[in-house]
Amino acid sequence: MMSASRAFRIAAIPGDGVGKEVIAAGREVLDALAASSAGAFALDWQDFGWGCEYYARTGQMMAADGLEVLKDFDAIYFGAVGWPGVPDHVSLWGLRLAICQNFDQWANVRPVRFLPGVRSPLRRADDTELDWVVVRENSEGEYAGAGGRNFAGRGPGGEVAVQTAVFTEVGCERIMRFAFDLARARARRKVSSVTKSNAQQYGMVLWDDVFRRVARDYPDVQADSVLVDAMAAKFVLRPEDLSVVVASNLHADILSDLGSALAGSLGLAASANLNPERRFPSMFEPVHGSAPDIAGQGLANPVGAVGSAALMLEHLGLPGQATRLHAAIEATTAAGVLTRELGGTATTQDVTKALIDALNT
Ligand SMILES: NC(=O)c1ccc[n+]([C@@H]2O[C@H](COP(=O)([O-])OP(=O)(O)OC[C@H]3O[C@@H](n4cnc5c(N)ncnc54)[C@H](O)[C@@H]3O)[C@@H](O)[C@H]2O)c1
Repeated sequence: MMSASRAFRIAAIPGDGVGKEVIAAGREVLDALAASSAGAFALDWQDFGWGCEYYARTGQMMAADGLEVLKDFDAIYFGAVGWPGVPDHVSLWGLRLAICQNFDQWANVRPVRFLPGVRSPLRRADDTELDWVVVRENSEGEYAGAGGRNFAGRGPGGEVAVQTAVFTEVGCERIMRFAFDLARARARRKVSSVTKSNAQQYGMVLWDDVFRRVARDYPDVQADSVLVDAMAAKFVLRPEDLSVVVASNLHADILSDLGSALAGSLGLAASANLNPERRFPSMFEPVHGSAPDIAGQGLANPVGAVGSAALMLEHLGLPGQATRLHAAIEATTAAGVLTRELGGTATTQDVTKALIDALNT
């Protein structure tokens, strides 16, 4: 029988657009996994219908007591937020960033995985072992929300906006230690720091100083520092040099989309927003957004959402179950069950069914 200690309370926030489709798919796969886990774990779901439709009804992206309610869950399974008609900065800050920032989910882990059966635009991907992970500083930097718009009184054409990046020694140090600790658990012990200190002589120079200092505490891990523009080129031309890539909020946001595109599709990319101290629940979500262009048509690739569920299981202390999910993903793509953006004809539901079948074989 199931032990109560292995039952986890999960808050599901599908959000908008394809978020709803991929979270429904992910839940189906997770429930099938739990059902076939011989009582290893169970998931107790609660659904929260927050997002742009909720905003249209209430003027808020989430309930006023939303954070208070969420804080007692073991984890949050999140889809995507954003829909035409609601400004993107309103929807993002009102829900996803509100959760990430208030729950101090300061480490955003975004693995770049190359799957069998998925064609990469990288020429050498087929005969090179490629596997790296982007570690994104998720609490400050360029997305600290510091700045303002002013001088409106000057009239049309005279407005001024300031958007300031905030780098703190504490913020830099904790994400870099996280990256080095992660590198120690990988086959290739290497951390590459992404910087732009040649042009940004304050925040990014502090970032570099902290990286050098932290690197000294990890003599067994190789460390290098690469300018963000050069790193963009390196993702394409020398990806075999990468293992853990640690970057600021904005840099990692852009680079991880590049990484997932190189692996074949944004729809494949998984991510974890972690509060490593576990003072608050962590949040697991596909990297992609709400994809209004394909929403509601059964075309969304659920693999990114299912990969995010695997990261959630690892965080909940169920690495064996996470491995089962990864194996099901690989079996599904290797069998050629692919959604349209990968050149296939499978629907979201076809892929979901194939994943569940793969779990049970
Ligand atoms: N974490 C988040 O909630 C998040 C992240 C990014 C963008 N957004 C929001 O999403 C909305 C749309 O933004 P966008 O178009 O720049 O990015 P997007 O990620 O939604 O879409 C980019 C492209 O990728 C495709 N795509 C995305 N997910 C896919 C999937 N699962 N399967 C197949 N194809 C997929 C889309 O069809 C589109 O062509 C905006 O409102 C934006 O603010 C939210």
